[in-house]
Amino acid sequence: MKINDRLIVPLDVERQSDAEKIVMELEDSITTYKVGLQLYTKEGKKVVEMLKKHDKSIFLDLKFHDIPNTVMGAVKSALDMGVDMLTIHAMGGFDMMEGVAKMLWQRKNDGKHAPIVFAVTLLTSLDSAFLMDVIGTTNRTVDDEVVILAGAAQSAGIAGVVASPQEIKSIRKNYGKQLLILSPGIRPAGSDKNDQQRTATPYSAMKDGADYIVVGRPILQAQNKLKTVKSILKEMKDGLKDS
Ligand code: C5P
Repeated sequence: MKINDRLIVPLDVERQSDAEKIVMELEDSITTYKVGLQLYTKEGKKVVEMLKKHDKSIFLDLKFHDIPNTVMGAVKSALDMGVDMLTIHAMGGFDMMEGVAKMLWQRKNDGKHAPIVFAVTLLTSLDSAFLMDVIGTTNRTVDDEVVILAGAAQSAGIAGVVASPQEIKSIRKNYGKQLLILSPGIRPAGSDKNDQQRTATPYSAMKDGADYIVVGRPILQAQNKLKTVKSILKEMKDGLKDS
């Protein structure tokens, strides 16, 4: 995999026209864009079509979370749009994840394009107090919980997980190199953390074993976006070398 394929930029804007400006400004330096709830809810499928027109890969990050039959229906619709990556919630349960994994296997067996599915482990906005109060776990840390959910995703046949950079090492230690790890919450050294709490640099995320990183505001709010991307790619290369 080329280093550019490992850096994903989220199109966290309201309008398709703003999204397209970002794509054009970053030229060939970025191959995959993340389309999330805000942009997709506002603009819908035409964002996917715009990205295809620019020959980009699409990471549809709608974090499906519902009963198995409903999530499988949503994944089927995403397949029909031709996205390359998508997310479901590991908290949606084993049967839901397994249903999705089987559907994708079937598709691959039929020789069709199948996206990579990532299971979101624990949202980084949830803390151990919530786990204790709501889920009733008394003796597990957030890290333990993430590792357990990642294990469930892997057993269900899901290709990858979304996890904060702080959890990359534990996931790698427990499940080896097979499970793909995608990490948001990345901040190049010296940049503003914004609302992200558990951050890491592109260098350390790659060194610890991330396969993909998502970097938003440090790129989107930069004076020179292309220059920022190039310096992040360099940091990532160094991290990979030292991994
Ligand atoms: O701007 P920033 O780099 O913080 O953007 C990170 C992207 O990753 C955003 O689109 C955000 O919604 C997403 N994300 C996250 N933390 C998670 C899951 C997704 O920051 N746990």
